[in-house]
Amino acid sequence: MTIRNLTRREFLRDTAATGGAVAVAGQASLGDALAAPPPVADRKPELHQVTIRLNGTDQQLRIDPRTTLLDLLREHLHLTGTKKGCDMGACGACTVLLDGKRVNACLLLAARLDHREVQTIEGLANGEELHPLQAAFIEHDGFQCGYCTPGQIMSAAGLLNEGRPTDERSIREWMSGNICRCGAYPNIVTAIRQASGRA
Ligand code: FES
Ligand code: FES
Repeated sequence: MTIRNLTRREFLRDTAATGGAVAVAGQASLGDALAAPPPVADRKPELHQVTIRLNGTDQQLRIDPRTTLLDLLREHLHLTGTKKGCDMGACGACTVLLDGKRVNACLLLAARLDHREVQTIEGLANGEELHPLQAAFIEHDGFQCGYCTPGQIMSAAGLLNEGRPTDERSIREWMSGNICRCGAYPNIVTAIRQASGRA
């Protein structure tokens, strides 16, 4: 049947039939959408149970597998000494020690750290006695605003653990992942050099 030959009655009949089909299809897709699972972001993941040795004490935790070590420390355990700067591994503000080695806490999923040992700035002093690095940073003004300082100190602690050379050039190189927006680098290097003889 060509358009030219359509009568008004035929046109209305065909339109009603086609429109009805569209409506039925529309209802079916709405039904499918309502029955579909929620978007991934809205689903509640299964919590993971992990035991992390944190600053010398075992912590048994049930955590969302998407939680980074940094968010676990700051948001869940309220250890806010570890700072969030870039949250993408570029600034070093979140540096902590994992089994004695330096890591960026923003790049690690906490659920994968079962039975690992984490040390943060809160666990560095020996009771009331500051760690030699903490004392040296204070003595040599190794900070201005202080935002990068916990990361700098934990990174320096890792550097000393690693037995790296502690001449100025080596310290600058091995601390290059820790950014200080205040530019306190000369004093940071001096503090680390001094602490390397005491730590
Ligand atoms: Fe982790 Fe910047 S916050 S490297
Ligand atoms: Fe301000 Fe380093 S002391 S960013």
